[in-house]
Amino acid sequence: MADDRMARLRERLGGVAFGGDYNPEQWDPAVWREDVELMRRAGVNLVTVGVFAWASLEAEPGVFTFDWLDEVLDLLHSGGIAVDLATPTMAPPVWLSHGHPEVLPVREDGQRFGFGNRLHYDPASPRYREAAARITDAIAARYAQHPSVAMWHLSNEYGPVSWGGASAAAFRDWLRERYGDLEALNDAWYTRFWGQRYTAWEQVEPPEVPRSWSNPTRRLDFLRFASDVLLECFTTERDIVRRYSELPITTNFMRFYRRADYWRWAQEEDVVALDIYPNPGEADSRVAAALNFDLMRSLKGGPWVLMEQAASAVSQWPVNNVKRPGMMRAGSYQAIAHGADTVLFFQWRASRGGHERFHSAMLPHSGTRSRTWREIEALGGELGRIAEVTGATSRADVALVFDWNAWWGLMETHGLPRNDFDYAELETSWYRPLLEAHLAVDLASFESALDGYRCVLVPNAYLVTDAFAQRLARFAEAGGTVVIGFFSGVVDERNQVLQPAYPGAFRQLIGAYIDEYWPARAGESFGVRFASGEEAVADWWQESIELETGAALAEFRNGLLAGRPAVVENRVGEGRVVYVGTRLEASALATLLLDTAHAAGVASVVADAPAQVEATMRSKGGADYLFLINHSETDAAAVRLPRAGVDLLTGAAVSGTLELEPLGVAVVRCG
Ligand code: GAL
Repeated sequence: MADDRMARLRERLGGVAFGGDYNPEQWDPAVWREDVELMRRAGVNLVTVGVFAWASLEAEPGVFTFDWLDEVLDLLHSGGIAVDLATPTMAPPVWLSHGHPEVLPVREDGQRFGFGNRLHYDPASPRYREAAARITDAIAARYAQHPSVAMWHLSNEYGPVSWGGASAAAFRDWLRERYGDLEALNDAWYTRFWGQRYTAWEQVEPPEVPRSWSNPTRRLDFLRFASDVLLECFTTERDIVRRYSELPITTNFMRFYRRADYWRWAQEEDVVALDIYPNPGEADSRVAAALNFDLMRSLKGGPWVLMEQAASAVSQWPVNNVKRPGMMRAGSYQAIAHGADTVLFFQWRASRGGHERFHSAMLPHSGTRSRTWREIEALGGELGRIAEVTGATSRADVALVFDWNAWWGLMETHGLPRNDFDYAELETSWYRPLLEAHLAVDLASFESALDGYRCVLVPNAYLVTDAFAQRLARFAEAGGTVVIGFFSGVVDERNQVLQPAYPGAFRQLIGAYIDEYWPARAGESFGVRFASGEEAVADWWQESIELETGAALAEFRNGLLAGRPAVVENRVGEGRVVYVGTRLEASALATLLLDTAHAAGVASVVADAPAQVEATMRSKGGADYLFLINHSETDAAAVRLPRAGVDLLTGAAVSGTLELEPLGVAVVRCG
């Protein structure tokens, strides 16, 4: 169903979707006309309308004003521009917040979050849900058949969490559902420690202040609940819209967003969508962007929507650098290279006031006499050349495990041997060498099927499910290669240490046990020598590893663990498992991961290209499209093409070595 809906949308748009958030309620009707004219000039074919329009559509409870939106949608339609129509439920009007303060979320410190921001709702509040359902229903009923509407954008960046009020009650219901009875909860939460045993459901509350020494399983369950309760807001709106419309329904995800398990969310949507704001002041930000793009593609295993990016600067950091000439174009193709079929921005026209008045826009404050506009117009004019790429998918031999339960266990509960883990950073540090060596990577969750991959990488899975541990073991036994990072396989889903320790889940797999985890002292580093003779430096973390069936692939050279294993290799069935028991310096980690992947038969997309060039392949109906993006702002790059073909952007036949100018892009249909 979802695939059919997306196929129809692709057919309707006839190529890459180009456009952005359009907030006409901020402007006079005369401006709307100019907007549509300029959108046409820029090649815009899809805009998201209504994200923040609740107060303009329902100024008083139950009293709707739709005339202005009717006019805007008619205008857009007459200009040939399709609409991704939003429900405005992220930003409730003042009558709701002031009339019913219980809809406001309570922060972790017990303070109520006030009106005058956005995301000021408690997702569990029945009053909020009722109001959100009413406006959703009214919009869907009125516009489902409007010819401009092409897809639905529910709310915006679902994210609020409330630690009090309705959420506290909903948390208890969620726990009842999960555990059935209180004894099971007491067991799961290990409440015999510190005498935390509950004797009635009413006693169970959300964990309050961050970093306090509270029960780690309570914290973990609250995170699971927070994701689920928000997802209920999404599915409630989705079901309402679906009663009126068969068009695709989505919402926009955020980069490395901890509070929503996007694997679960993606199953409820027709298509996955992402907002991404890489910091143009940080050369490296493209690596995390690529990882997020691959994650989006993997969530549903297909093309996704780049819902928002900045045309140039954002306004959310202490210093907001511009995207220099060419960066916006390169970043847009980067998303397409990793599976996006859209290039959309926040926002179409720069706002004159409000918090984001300096956030860049497709149409900046200086209008069409601006560099950004010229770059937008050029990109909009060019995207038609790669229309045939839409719908193309990609395949990878490497799966990188990225799972929200693993993340929550590691970062959101306390009392670990060290409490400054950064899951996203760990994942990025393993992903970077793969990206720079041009290997195709899928992301996988604990639930993902692993067959079909040659190599599965688990940078960290402190918390692990039985089912995943078993699937990983079967994958290795059947000939797969697995690499596991330190402090993995330690606890079960209840955050309880698996026995026999450590790592209870992976002990047989890695062929060793860990007597103790040894976080490094401040400033401490260690020499490591690989069996190959190569030397490296490690820091931050050590483990005292006792070999069982495994062998040392590398040993510590100095310190109290000198001569003891730092990296272990184990043969399991037909497969190979490598366990990395320390934090290796980046170059050594890269060598280890790439050597292991290559030994498993993983091939690069291009054999010979500099690290600053991104290379991916998308395929459709027998055609292979090679994307090459040179992220260097200063250096040209030469890439040896695996096959001859045609660069769709220039129309030129290409073969042998292709030269990319700084920030240059090529999309080669391989012959
Ligand atoms: C997103 C959000 C947009 C806008 C944008 C730029 O997070 O969905 O509404 O705020 O960031 O900051």
